[in-house]
Amino acid sequence: MNVTRVALAGALGLSAALAGAATPAVAQQEILEKELRGLDVVAVLNAREDTMKGMKRAMSELAKMVEEEAPFDAVKAAQLAELIERNTRAIPVLFPEGTQIRGSTALDAVWEEPEAFAALAEEATGKAVALKAATEPASTADDIADAFKEVALSCRACHKDYKKPF
Ligand code: HEC
Repeated sequence: MNVTRVALAGALGLSAALAGAATPAVAQQEILEKELRGLDVVAVLNAREDTMKGMKRAMSELAKMVEEEAPFDAVKAAQLAELIERNTRAIPVLFPEGTQIRGSTALDAVWEEPEAFAALAEEATGKAVALKAATEPASTADDIADAFKEVALSCRACHKDYKKPF
C-alpha cells in the first residue's frame, strides 16, 4: 500500500485531519471538535475507529521496514510518522461524552480519567514526533528501530488501561 492510500484511509474524512501539518495543532483540534459536534454518535465512533485503524496500518508499514521485509524508505517513514502524530493529537477530541455506545471497545476509564487519558495521547504524539525526527538523518531501518518501538509501546500503554482487549 502506498503512503497516499495509508494517509487517506487514516484520515478522518474531516477537514481538520486533511489540513495537514501546516495547520497548528491547536487549530486542528478546534476545527475537529467543531465538526464532531455536528455528527451523530455513530459517526463519531466511526471517525475514531478510522483514526485508530489508520495508525495501525501506518505501524504495520513501518514494522515491515524495521523487520526488513520491505525496503527502507526514509521519506515514506517520515510521512507515516506524521500521520501517527496527527492522529494521536486528535485522540482527546475523539471521545466526547455520550459516545460510549455499543460497538465501542473503550473502557469507562476514558471518561472517568480524561486528563490521564489525554496525557497518554500526548505522550504518543511525542513519540511520533521523535520517530519522524529519527527518519531525517536515517539511512537504514536500524536508525528508526528504537523510535518505532517507543511508538508501539505508547499505543499499548493506552490500550492496556483504556480499551477492552483486542
Ligand atoms: C490515549 C489512548 C490511546 C492511544 C495513545 C492509542 N489508542 Fe488505539 N484505541 C484507544 C481506545 C480507547 C480504543 C477503543 C475505541 C472505541 O472502540 O471506542 C482504541 C482502539 C484502537 C483500535 C481498534 C479500532 C477499531 O476498529 O475498533 C486500533 C487498531 C488501535 N486503537 C490502534 C492504535 C495504534 C496503532 C496506536 C499507536 C500508534 C494507538 N491505537 C494509540 C486508545 C488509544
